[in-house]
Formats: sequence, structure tokens, C-alpha cells
Amino acid sequence: MKQDIGASGGSGKGRRPGKKPTPKSALKASNRARTAPAKPKAKSTDGEGGLGAFDELHVDLRTSEERWRSLLENPLFGVTFVGQHLRYEGSNRTFQNMVGFSAEELRQISPLDISVSGERELNAVYFKELQSGERNHYEMIKQLRRKDGSLIWTHLYVFAVTDRKSGEKLPFGIVFDITDKKQAQDALEEMRAELVRVARVNEMGAMAGSIAHEIAQPLSSIVTAANAALRWLERPNPEIEETKALLRGIVHDGQRAADIIKGIRAVFRADPEQRSAVKVNELVRDVLALSQTELRKSLIEVRTELAETLPVLSADPVQLQQVIFNLVKNAIDAMDPVVGRDRILRIKSEHGGSQWLVVSIEDSGVGIAPENMDRMFKSLFTTKPNGMGMGLAICQSIVESHGGSLTASPAHPHGAVFRLSLPTGGADGA
Ligand SMILES: Nc1ncnc2c1ncn2[C@@H]1O[C@H](COP(=O)(O)OP(=O)(O)OP(=O)(O)O)[C@@H](O)[C@H]1O
Ligand SMILES: [Mg+2]
Repeated sequence: MKQDIGASGGSGKGRRPGKKPTPKSALKASNRARTAPAKPKAKSTDGEGGLGAFDELHVDLRTSEERWRSLLENPLFGVTFVGQHLRYEGSNRTFQNMVGFSAEELRQISPLDISVSGERELNAVYFKELQSGERNHYEMIKQLRRKDGSLIWTHLYVFAVTDRKSGEKLPFGIVFDITDKKQAQDALEEMRAELVRVARVNEMGAMAGSIAHEIAQPLSSIVTAANAALRWLERPNPEIEETKALLRGIVHDGQRAADIIKGIRAVFRADPEQRSAVKVNELVRDVLALSQTELRKSLIEVRTELAETLPVLSADPVQLQQVIFNLVKNAIDAMDPVVGRDRILRIKSEHGGSQWLVVSIEDSGVGIAPENMDRMFKSLFTTKPNGMGMGLAICQSIVESHGGSLTASPAHPHGAVFRLSLPTGGADGA
């Protein structure tokens, strides 16, 4: 492979006094040493069997060259050297693979040619500043267009190297391909946005659910009263037909109102069409990934025990994820005031009999006061200054609409454990 970025001289150890090898002659010398090992030895100054000064110099130079070579041939990051006309004068194999251009093709193009608009202009400014000496280095996260037209994400570190011949400052770059990382990050952000959206919808649904619950009873009393009035008026000589018509109207309206309430409740229930095959362990892992920053910030240790072969569920994945997310969020909140003992979040998934699957989420937090054990599942019950008191109500509705149950109990020696039981269709999976 042609070395585009040459190695500079040896360590200086064992050099002959008065004659310093230039980097170029040093490289030549080391190449000779590699290709012609049988060449007669230079006169040794170290006595019989010892290495002569020349030999030592060759070894030093070879070692140095090999080190530079392995650095350039590394499979982890691209190395680029941009020349006077802002063309890729040199690049390593990793960079060539990253962008899909050969070394020769890269020599004809500039980094700006394969940049995207917006980033291209910014990069051009950085190049100018490097060349004028205004800055010595820069770092950029930017996209590059590959030869096949696709885009990759790169993390770029660039610094100025003074060209020996022209005295100009030229950009030397180290390039990491972060496309996979960026895509994973984007997917996570999308998921977070979706969770927030679903949480809002669910909150509205839960509100509607509790409103419906509150007004369903008086409405049914209106219907009963109207029916009673009908009977009462069926006595001799009243304005029977007109009153009947009126009362039927009340019955009809009352029924209609009840139907509307049913409709609001239906919105809150999981839509069977949204159900698909769900692997609960994957949901747990997704939620932990989403909560990673908060868990780390709160110094919480996560311990998972996820059963290897669990049945696949038929469920609404986003809603179930919301349940696990709410429970994890509550666990984090419950451990926030904890000092002087470990903050541990334990998540376990297991078979719960032949047709059930159980996920338990346990924390070592403040625990639940006995009087709150039932109340906390009711909408709008909260002990938090900024809580809405909707999290558990939403969880319970979702779980029940999936035919499952959600219960809480004290954990030992501290904290609380929430058990989520879900019915399985009987199918096996991971
Ligand atoms: N893991 C837990 N440990 C101790 N108490 C808990 C735990 N989870 C819930 N609680 C109690 O139950 C209450 C209700 O929880 P819920 O999730 O419904 O609402 P919230 O967390 O207060 O507010 P939000 O609507 O923002 O979720 C909490 O305020 C808290 O007092
Ligand atoms: Mg909550």
C-alpha cells in the first residue's frame, strides 16, 4: 500500500554522530533493511556479537515505520490528509471503505464535494481558519456522501499540519463512522417522542374515563326516574300521550348520553387492531435504554433477571411500553430521597403458570404507606409536588384492557414491588 502520510525519522538512539538521516533516506534505509536481510553487516563498534550503530539505526527506523504503518492501517478510524487544493491527498483504507472511493478517486475530490449543504459551508469556513492560522483544530459531527450516493454520519477531528515544502497549514483529519450509533440514537428519540405522545393521549383518556365514571351514575338515575314518572303518570285522566312522549324523550336522551360516555371509555380501552406479537423482554430493554440517562444521573443500579424463553404476547406494544415506563419512572422517583443505602432497580420477567407472564419491577425506595396502597391506583392521587397522579391509573387501565392485572406490595427490606401479570396466547417464543 502506498503510504500517503509518510513516517518521520527514528528515535535518534544509535545515530552516527555528525550524519543525521533525513526522514526520506531513513524510510529508504528501513525498506532496504526489510527487503535485503542478507546484506553484510556494517562494522560493529560494540565488539563481537553486538549490534552495530547502523543495525541499531535500521531497527529503530523499522520499528518506527511499523508503528506508523499500523496506526494508519487501523480498522477503527479513517485518516485523511487534505492537500493544497483541498483535495484528499492521502487517506487510509478505513476511510476509503467508509466513503466507497479509492485512494486515486479521493485525490480528485475535496471533502467539501462529499459534504451536504449547510455542513459544507461551515466546513469551508473551518478550512479557511485552519489555513490562516486563526484556529489549530476543530471537531465536527457531519454527514458524508458515499460514492453510491448514500449518506453516512461521521465524527471528525481535524488539526492543522504545516507542509514542509510550501509552509502552508493543511488539514489532517481523523474520522469515525458513527452512522450506527446515530441511527440507534435517532430511533431512541423517536420512541421517546412516541411515548410522550401516547402518554398525553392516555392521560386524556384516563381523564375521560374518570369523568365518565363520575357522571354515569346520575345519568342512569335520570333514566330510572323518567321511567318511574312514566308509570306515575299512567293514572286515570292525565295528559298521558304528551307526557309519555316527553318522558320517552328523556329516556332517549339519557340513553344517548350513556352511549357517549361508553364511547369516551372505548377511546381509553386498547384498540385490538393495534395489537401485535410482543416480546416483553424487548420492551423492558427499550424502556431501560430510554431511561438510561435518568437512571445514571440518579445513581441507580439496574439488575435484570429476564427469563430466556417467554411466550410472545398479543398486545399493544406502545401501551405496554408505557406501563413499564411509568412503573420505572415511579421507582426512580421513589428512590430519589434515599440516602445511606443502595438504590437498586430490579426488573424480573418470568412464567406465571401456564397461561401467564409476570413482570415485576422492584425498587429500594421510600416504600408505600399502607393507607395509600389502594388509593394510589386512583386517578389524580399523588404525593409528588409535580405529579399528576395519572401514571398508575393509566397503567391499570391498560393492563386490564389487556386482560391482565397490576398489583403493588412492599419490598424487603425497603421499597415497593409492582407485579404486572399478563395472559399469554399459549404460543412460545423468546
Ligand atoms: N414505586 C413506588 N414507591 C412508592 N410510592 C409509589 C411508587 N409508585 C407510585 N407510588 C405512589 O403512588 C402515587 C401515584 O403514582 P402515579 O404514578 O399514579 O402518579 P405520580 O407518579 O404521582 O404522577 P404522574 O401522573 O406524573 O405519574 C405516587 O405519587 C406515589 O405516592
Ligand atoms: Mg407516576
